[in-house]
Amino acid sequence: MKKLAVLFIGLLVTFATMAQVNVLQIDVAGGKTRINKNIYGQFAEHLGRCIYDGIWVGKDSPIPNVNGYRKDLLEALQALKVPVLRWPGGCFADTYHWKNGIGPVADRPKIKNAFWGGTIEDNSFGTNEFLNLCELLGCDPYISANVGSGTVGEMVDWIQYMTSDDNVPMVNLRKQNGREKPWNVKFIGIGNESWGCGGNMTPEHYTDLMRQYSGYAGLYGGNNLHRIGCGSNGSDFNWTKVLMDKGRNNMDGLSLHYYTIAGEGWSKKGSATTFGEDQYFTGLKKALYMDELVSKHSAIMDEYDKDKRVDLLVDEWGIWTDVEPGANPGHLFQQNSMRDALIASSTLDILNKHCDRVKMANIAQIVNVLQAMILTQGNKMVLTPTYHVFKMYNVHQDATLLPSNLICEQYQLGNDQIPAISSSSSVDKNGKIHVTLSNLNPTKEIKLEINLSGKGIAKINSGTILTAAAFNAVNTFDKPETVSPVAFKNAKKISDNKLEVSIPSKSVVVLELE
Ligand code: AHR
Repeated sequence: MKKLAVLFIGLLVTFATMAQVNVLQIDVAGGKTRINKNIYGQFAEHLGRCIYDGIWVGKDSPIPNVNGYRKDLLEALQALKVPVLRWPGGCFADTYHWKNGIGPVADRPKIKNAFWGGTIEDNSFGTNEFLNLCELLGCDPYISANVGSGTVGEMVDWIQYMTSDDNVPMVNLRKQNGREKPWNVKFIGIGNESWGCGGNMTPEHYTDLMRQYSGYAGLYGGNNLHRIGCGSNGSDFNWTKVLMDKGRNNMDGLSLHYYTIAGEGWSKKGSATTFGEDQYFTGLKKALYMDELVSKHSAIMDEYDKDKRVDLLVDEWGIWTDVEPGANPGHLFQQNSMRDALIASSTLDILNKHCDRVKMANIAQIVNVLQAMILTQGNKMVLTPTYHVFKMYNVHQDATLLPSNLICEQYQLGNDQIPAISSSSSVDKNGKIHVTLSNLNPTKEIKLEINLSGKGIAKINSGTILTAAAFNAVNTFDKPETVSPVAFKNAKKISDNKLEVSIPSKSVVVLELE
């Protein structure tokens, strides 16, 4: 049977290649693994205008707000179904002393945000404000603890302040600050980028520290805290090896950070809006590297943990460009184009397909920083193309991944090429099938045949498309709907097991089948 299936796929590949047809084979009855909704997670750091201006304007602001949180942002994020939010950093986390951010605001000390432009941080947004925000959004908080410049005791106090109901000083302090019941905090990161801004550590040194911190986090985390070890910088596979070898029993998850740079490198990252096809192509190619990266880290993790007890969390990812002209270089404010949308869609397809090991991912960042969902300016707000992709893709949250096989043409530029199509498919608890498709080719419409095996479908319920006239098209405060989703009609049911779809150039499509 298995041999026959291999032969069938082999024949399919041969015919498809000969005839240059694009075929997506989906096994509708073969789904086994849940796509953890936390793959659609977000990240908010005290950096630039992410927290202040972006999320928090304070109760006395003329900008419409709900207890200090921007009203427009809250509504947009509620519609997005954010499953989890990581905070307070990032590099900021390893400089953050949480007690500075609680109690009467007037008494909170001002500190220097040393990593991000030296900006003065007044600590008016702290633990209570963050955890209450998570409750308003209906998402899980993911706290990043300070290992770089903090102490175990400080972390333990924080955990008790947030999660305990015991009659102990930290709980009484919380009650004094107006919060009676503990919050539901599920995830704690043991340091951030401990190989870099979080302490410049070797993997061996960090592993020892992680074991120490995570032991105490487990002791006080009465509500089953999931402890996340700091993972590698992109392709530092040795970091993963050491952590898994010596620390796997002391953590529930291991993180991974990977940023896409479309320009020449960290010192010339390239513009977010003014780029040609070369940087469009490079951006996509570098984003697709996530597949190889996750496969290789997962393979190392499998060597030590074949039952996949330790999760992989890609808790920082996205495209990182030069800041917008005139913006503070330390504030990482960048525009967001149709290229960002395709980077988001193809990355989410990759993460969906690795959902047996990848249980969370947090795009950097939620508002006004890097590949943001939302940009704000005074009382104006704009939803970015990346926001629209996340909204279109939230149908995959907690659905079951459907095994699929895609044979497709290449998108070629010069001597280089990448697959022209990206896709992933899932079935939700109501039996609805969602297929996400991106055409990465910026100039060519692609015809795709979708074959469904195991079970047929009765109809195409709906289709949505996000595309634009140019790959660098953006939404601005004056023209906020240049890149917006609309109904998609170019999918045709040929039979219960066969569809034909024409995917316009540089577009993201989601189909719902039933
Ligand atoms: O997301 C911006 C920064 O990128 C984070 O603070 C850090 O963890 C990473 O280097």
